[in-house]
Amino acid sequence: MNLTLKIWRQKNANDKGKMVDYQIGDISGDMSFLEMLDLLNDQLINKGEEPVAFDHDCREGICGMCSLYINGEAHGPDRGVTTCQLHMRMFKDGETIFIEPFRAKAFPVIKDLVVDRSAFDRIQHAGGFISVNTSGNTIDANTIPVNKHDADDAFSAATCIGCGACVASCKNSSAMLYLGAKISQFALLPQGKIEATDRVLNMVKQMDEEGFGNCTNTGACEVECPKGISLENIARLNREYLSATLKG
Ligand code: SF4
Ligand code: FES
Repeated sequence: MNLTLKIWRQKNANDKGKMVDYQIGDISGDMSFLEMLDLLNDQLINKGEEPVAFDHDCREGICGMCSLYINGEAHGPDRGVTTCQLHMRMFKDGETIFIEPFRAKAFPVIKDLVVDRSAFDRIQHAGGFISVNTSGNTIDANTIPVNKHDADDAFSAATCIGCGACVASCKNSSAMLYLGAKISQFALLPQGKIEATDRVLNMVKQMDEEGFGNCTNTGACEVECPKGISLENIARLNREYLSATLKG
């Protein structure tokens, strides 16, 4: 395939940035989207030009680092995959592909296609954990009975990889799907109930301080989420938050 790439280039956080056109050829449908960008960067380096900065780590849909907005969709046109799992067979010979960073006030651009998603880390630090006494009398988790349905839902919520596609897809840049997943993975399990009140109050407070917008039930987040995190998690977050505020 021969392709035209229109890529967002921005030298640093203060630079205005602009779209720049690149031509690339010899692209196989079996290549991943990031391998195609690797090839582009090889060519740019060989020409003495600055390569395009983009985030990646595992390249197998686990770490949540890759974060591109491709042709107006977070993680591109395929469903249930991250950018690193997107294959070039999803595109046609001669196509023009627009590649931009995830855009949200709480995710400022660092360089080119790389954004700062440390806001998610700070939300996680505010309460996304459980405390376990490990002083010699730890109980094996398997000895605590858990309803199978709850265990399955908690596991599904825990598959959130913190990529931020939900925020990038939301017209309000809301992080409610992400936070819904992080709250649900503990709220459904006995181990998570002890700190449930503080957890949801502190994590919502941090989310608001980071500048994420409100949820208005559009559902774009659920459509674009590579892990199929369901809107049910937002409903559960709202219930947990209401219950915590009434207790407080
Ligand atoms: S909810 Fe989905 S889209 Fe949002 S951070 Fe988690 S995995 Fe990514
Ligand atoms: S590079 Fe890890 S999920 Fe894409």
